[in-house]
Order: sequence, then structure tokens, then C-alpha cells
Amino acid sequence: MSLHVSQHPLANHLLAELRDVKTEPASFRRRARLLSTILMLEATADLPIRKEIVETPLEKTEATKLGCGLAVVPILRAGLSMLESALELFPDVAVGYVGLERSHETAVASSYYSKLPPLAGRRVLCVDPMLATGGSASQAIALLKQHGATDVSLVCVVAAPEGVERMIQDHPEVPIFVAALDRELNGSKYILPGLGDYGDRLYGTH
Ligand code: PRP
Ligand code: URA
Repeated sequence: MSLHVSQHPLANHLLAELRDVKTEPASFRRRARLLSTILMLEATADLPIRKEIVETPLEKTEATKLGCGLAVVPILRAGLSMLESALELFPDVAVGYVGLERSHETAVASSYYSKLPPLAGRRVLCVDPMLATGGSASQAIALLKQHGATDVSLVCVVAAPEGVERMIQDHPEVPIFVAALDRELNGSKYILPGLGDYGDRLYGTH
């Protein structure tokens, strides 16, 4: 398993603004989208490429293009905030959805929806801003594998050590890309220092 923590100064700057309790939903959504773009670029830096001859206005030249299909699968609902970045960067990306919701009492996620494109042969980016206990990401990635995914990366904004540990246990081959690895979970399984409930902060639902 590899854990990539972004070192980009803009990623840290945007994360600081997301952490700030004073950041309201409209600003939160904008910053979340910008940060997702940085993380998405970092998560795809090793994509396979292929050579192609293109004709410039002056002559033919060998150029490189993306060499594999891509799929992005946001975990609903907070993962939706990362989808637009993927669509802007990779207009041909296939999109799947996995709906999971953590119980407020047990923090165990249960599934309420899924719709997935064919995943075999594609790089699959599973996106969810918060990796807390890791239960949601682990469950989602198990589902992606059942649908033929063999090359999955997990892209999150903030991870807790407990979530990373869970991923190492359940999906050790899946690389994880984050803006920050935080300290710990609290008694209610929220990330500390974290930024609160990402879905609530995006959509103003608290
Ligand atoms: C949040 C978050 C992750 C999950 C992380 O979603 O977006 O999906 O919790 O927690 P875990 O690692 O302990 O599973 P939540 O279930 O609150 O649903 P929401 O996105 O609809 O707000
Ligand atoms: N989900 C969130 O949105 N935030 C946390 O800190 C943990 C789970």
C-alpha cells in the first residue's frame, strides 16, 4: 500500500480554508473542487500513455496521449464534490456511483445505491473526501472489485490513521492520495482535527 500526502502548497492552503469553521457552503464547495483537481492530478501522474503521430500546422510529430481508459466512482454523497474535477480533467471518463451512509450510532456504513460502468481494464478512481474508520472506502472498493476492477486508486481529502490501517488490511494494493493524514478519530468516529462532516459542510445540512 502506498499513501501519498500532497506536498503542493496550494493543496495545504485550500485545506486550511476547508478546515476553517467559518467557511460557508458556497466557498467550501469551490475550494473542495479546486483541491480535488490537485489531488486528481497527483493520483493520475503515472497513467499509461501511448504514442501518436499528430500534424501541427508546420509538420508531423510524435506526441503522447492517455493510454488507458479511466473510471471515476464517487461515494455518495460527499464524493460528488470530487466528480466535477474528474470530468473537467478527463472528459471521456466513465462514471459510476456508490451510495453509502454511516450510521450515526455505530459509524458502520450501509449501502443504499450503486450503478457502475464496466471497470475491467480501466484505472478506477474511487473518490471520497473523508477516510475515517475506512469502512465506507473498503466496502466501496470491494464492490468495484466484484465488478471487475483490478486497478483502483483511492482519492480522499483527509485520512485518519485508523482508515489507512483498515485499507492496508482490506485492500493493500490500492494506493491512497490525500491532502492530509490527520491525528486520530474521536469517540464518534470523526477525524481530528479534521473539518467536521464534509457532506453537511458542502450542502449546509447540519
Ligand atoms: C462520510 C464520508 C465518507 C464516510 C467516511 O459519509 O463522506 O463516505 O463518512 O467514514 P468512514 O471511513 O468511517 O466510513 P457519510 O456516511 O457521513 O455520508 P454523506 O456523504 O452522505 O454525508
Ligand atoms: N465523515 C465526515 O464527513 N467527517 C469525518 O470526520 C468522518 C466521517
